[in-house]
Amino acid sequence: MTNTNPIGLFDSGIGGTSIWKEIHGLLPNEDTIYLADSKNAPYGQKSKEEIIHLSCKNTEFLLNQNAKIIVVACNTATTNAIKELRAKYDVPFIGIEPAIKPAALNSKSHTIGILATQGTLNSELFHQTAEKFHDTKIIEQIGHGLVPLIENGDINSSEMNELLQMYLQPMIAAHIDYLVLGCSHYPYLIPQIKKILPKEIKIIDSGEAVARQTKNVLQEKVGLHPGNQPGKTEFYTNADPKVLFEILEKKYRVTVLDF
Ligand code: DGL
Repeated sequence: MTNTNPIGLFDSGIGGTSIWKEIHGLLPNEDTIYLADSKNAPYGQKSKEEIIHLSCKNTEFLLNQNAKIIVVACNTATTNAIKELRAKYDVPFIGIEPAIKPAALNSKSHTIGILATQGTLNSELFHQTAEKFHDTKIIEQIGHGLVPLIENGDINSSEMNELLQMYLQPMIAAHIDYLVLGCSHYPYLIPQIKKILPKEIKIIDSGEAVARQTKNVLQEKVGLHPGNQPGKTEFYTNADPKVLFEILEKKYRVTVLDF
């Protein structure tokens, strides 16, 4: 089974490009379309209803571009809206959830930290997953303010460093040995986070697992692209494209949409 249609991805903004990079790395021959709904970022403090509404709008945009599969490259949208998306649209969805499982299973101190948005940490889906690992102490921290700084391109700012210090120091004091990055924007903070965490603390995100899962679902249910040429890539945003362009190392064209 083969399928030449593109893989569609969306996020509340530029963060999901961390997932796109993993997918593009694993499946370089696939065409991809990435939609950054930066005008509406952050999703993290919006109501579940709003997140569902925006996720449907993003999905419909990607389906209109013939996406064969939709990757919800956003933990907040996945944990709040994936059930509704799967019920409404007849296309496979790949979601991204905080990687609690590998952290909890490998933790020696039985204490892990998770940094995610309010929307993710308050979601039913997150609680259901966390309850499965009740032998592990999970220190939850909302990353207030991190996504707007990333969206503004202020990744290396002193404000970012202050926020990260404030969120991570209590986790260090509580002896976490794993830090789970539960927001697709946060992998861009890894160099900053590494300067704060002792090196024994491992940082994990879900990017690689999502890429593997996307490949499996394409192979089993949808069809991979049969070609051996590099896939075409399209990036769309409904806000200032500058930071998205920069985060893509200025290698890809970004189209601005009135969306
Ligand atoms: N990148 C998103 C996530 O993975 C959303 C961040 C936000 O918009 O608050 O949760």
